[in-house]
Amino acid sequence: MSGFDSIEELYREARRAMRRAVAPCSRFKVGVSVLTLDGDIYTGCNIENPSLMMSECAERIALLKAVSEGAGGIRAMMIVSNRAGYCYPCGGCRQLIREFAPEAEIFVAGRRGIKKYTIDELLPHAFER
Ligand code: THU
Repeated sequence: MSGFDSIEELYREARRAMRRAVAPCSRFKVGVSVLTLDGDIYTGCNIENPSLMMSECAERIALLKAVSEGAGGIRAMMIVSNRAGYCYPCGGCRQLIREFAPEAEIFVAGRRGIKKYTIDELLPHAFER
């Protein structure tokens, strides 16, 4: 399914991050792990705020943590949630992935297994400067 063998670790880390989600408004918990080209893993969870516009997606937090720590490039991303179905990144996060992780293999995990996408599949005809 994939060119690298740490997919279980990515899944484990995403699940661990999901347990840290702060989702009192939606009860929808999301966890994300990203693997950098250097082999480092960064994670993120969604963090909601009663002022909903200040809420943050898990993908956004994981990616921006990696970028702000100087990660050179992102090789893969794993997205899990506390729902049985697949959790796909929202539109804004797709644009962010396009910007900061254009080559990444994007994995979404649900009860029925793990599926893999590219950002071109998830965000065709993306805005580019
Ligand atoms: N959410 C994410 O963190 N990532 C996604 O891919 C979809 C949605 C969060 C935002 C909000 O806290 C909750 O899930 C429900 O929308």
